[in-house]
Amino acid sequence: MSNISVIGTGYVGLVTGACLADLGNQVTCIDIAVDKIERLQNGILPIYEPGLEEVVERNVSAGRLRFTASYCGVLDACEFIFIAVNTPMGENEGGADMRYVESAARSIAQELDHDAIIINKSTVPVGSGDLVSRVIQTYLKKPDVHFAVVSNPEFLREGTAVYDFLHPDRIVLGSSDLQEANAVARLYLPLRAPIMITDIYTAEMIKYASNAFLATKISFINEIAQICEHLGADVKEVAAGMGYDKRIGRAFLDAGLGYGGSCLPKDVRALAHMAHEAGLHPQLLHTVMDINHDQRRRIVDKLTDILGSLQDRTIAVLGLAFKPNTDDMRDAPAIDIIHWITSLGATVRVYDPIATQTGYQALEHAGAAMASVIFCQTPYEAAENADALVVVTEWNEFKTLRMAQLSSTMRHPLLIDGRNMYEAADVSLHGFIYHGMGRGTDPATVTLSAIKTGKLTATTVGEGAFALP
Ligand code: UDX
Ligand code: UDX
Repeated sequence: MSNISVIGTGYVGLVTGACLADLGNQVTCIDIAVDKIERLQNGILPIYEPGLEEVVERNVSAGRLRFTASYCGVLDACEFIFIAVNTPMGENEGGADMRYVESAARSIAQELDHDAIIINKSTVPVGSGDLVSRVIQTYLKKPDVHFAVVSNPEFLREGTAVYDFLHPDRIVLGSSDLQEANAVARLYLPLRAPIMITDIYTAEMIKYASNAFLATKISFINEIAQICEHLGADVKEVAAGMGYDKRIGRAFLDAGLGYGGSCLPKDVRALAHMAHEAGLHPQLLHTVMDINHDQRRRIVDKLTDILGSLQDRTIAVLGLAFKPNTDDMRDAPAIDIIHWITSLGATVRVYDPIATQTGYQALEHAGAAMASVIFCQTPYEAAENADALVVVTEWNEFKTLRMAQLSSTMRHPLLIDGRNMYEAADVSLHGFIYHGMGRGTDPATVTLSAIKTGKLTATTVGEGAFALP
C-alpha cells in the first residue's frame, strides 16, 4: 500500500485516483475547483463514467479515497504525486497549454518537504518532464528534498475509462532513473499488464503518436468512405474485409462524422505544432485534421443537396455527446453541425440520452442560434414534422428505435446516418430514404444491405430479382 496524491479530478485524475485506491493504496485527490471537490465530498461525481460511482463510493467508505481543494498538509506522507490536470489547446496554433501543469508543479514544490516521485499523467508535449523538473526545482520549499519526475501517459477512453484503467494494453513509464521507474511500476503490478520502461521523451511521444495514429485510422476510413460513396461500395463491408488482416485490425475503422472529444483533436494538433516548432512540415497530420473537419461539413452538404435551402426547415438531430456513454461535449461534431444548420435558417430539434445540460452549454458557447434549437425528451419528439433525421452519436438506444413511428411523424422521411448505424434495406422498409456515410448509392449496395439484414436471400439475388419482399 502506498500514499498517493492525484492533482486534478477530471476524467483522467478522478478515474486514476479512484482506481489506485481500489488497488489498495491511500489516495488523496486534489482539485482547485472548490465546487467540484465539495460535490465529490458529498458523493456527487462531476463526470459521467460507467462504473466510476461505485469505485469512488467503495473506496471513500473504506477510507482509502478522499478529496480536498487544498495542497496544505496533503503531500506530507505522499510517496507518489500524479499530475492529471488538463492540457487544453493553447492559442499558439494548437500547442498544448501547459499553464495548469506548471501551476500544479509549483504548488507541489511549495508543499513538498520529503523525497517523492512526481508522475505526469496528463498528456504533455515531448520535453515536459524537464519543464516540470525545472518548475519544482525553482520553487522547492526545502532545497534538500530529492524528487524525480516520471512520465506515465494515460490511454483511457471516455465511456470505458474505469475498464481501461483496470485492463490496460500496456503501462508506459518514462524516467531517467530505473529505480524510480520500478517504484512506479510496482503500483501497477496488480493489473498484470505489460509494463514498458523507457526515457521520458519517448514515453511522452508514445502517447501523442498513439493518439495521432488512431486519428489517422479514422481519417483514412473516412476518405475511403468518400470514395465508396462515389463508386457504389459499402465502407462498412470494406472495413470488415480489411479488419480480418491482423496487420490492420478492425478497430477504429468506423467511418462517420470523424473524431471529437478532449483528446484526439487536441493531441493531433499539438503533435503537428511540435513538428512545426522543430522546423518540420507534418503533411500527414494536417491531412488527417483536414479530412476530419470535412466529415462534419458533409452532413450539411448532404442536407442541402437533398433538401435545397434549409431556410425554415426542421432538422432532427439524434445525439450530442462526442461519442456514446459520455456527457462530454468537448469538440463534439454535433456542435459544428448544429451551428452550421441553424446558421442556414433551419430549426434543430435535438435529443441526447445524457448530454442535454452539457450540450446546451456547449451549443450556446459555440454561438449556435439557440432560439432555433429545441431540446426534446425523446427521439420521437425530436422527429416530429422534421424534414430530415440526422444521427450524430451512435447511442445504443438508437439501435432499437421504432422506425415506422419515426418516419410517420416526419414531414420528409429522410434519414442521414452520420454513424452508419442502420442498413438501407431495413429503414427503407419503414418508409425512410436512407443516406449513410460511404454506404454506396446504387441498387447493388441496397441489395447487399438487404442480404445482410436477411431481407433478401442470396438465391433471390442470383435470379436477378432485386425486389425486396
Ligand atoms: C485532460 C485531457 O482530456 C487529457 O488528454 C489529458 O491527458 C489530461 O487533461 P481531463 O481529466 O479530461 O484530462 O481534464 P479535465 O476534465 O479538464 O479535468 C482537469 C481537472 O484539473 C479539472 O477538474 C481542473 O479543475 C483541475 N485542475 C486544473 C487543477 O486541479 N489544478 C490546476 O492547476 C488546473
Ligand atoms: C481517445 C483514445 O482512444 C484514448 O486511448 C486516449 O487516451 C484518449 O483519446 P476518447 O477520445 O475517449 O479516447 O474516445 P475514442 O473512443 O478513442 O473515440 C475518439 C473519437 O473518434 C470519437 O469522437 C469517436 O466517435 C471517433 N471514432 C472512434 C470514429 O469516428 N471512428 C472509430 O472507428 C472510432
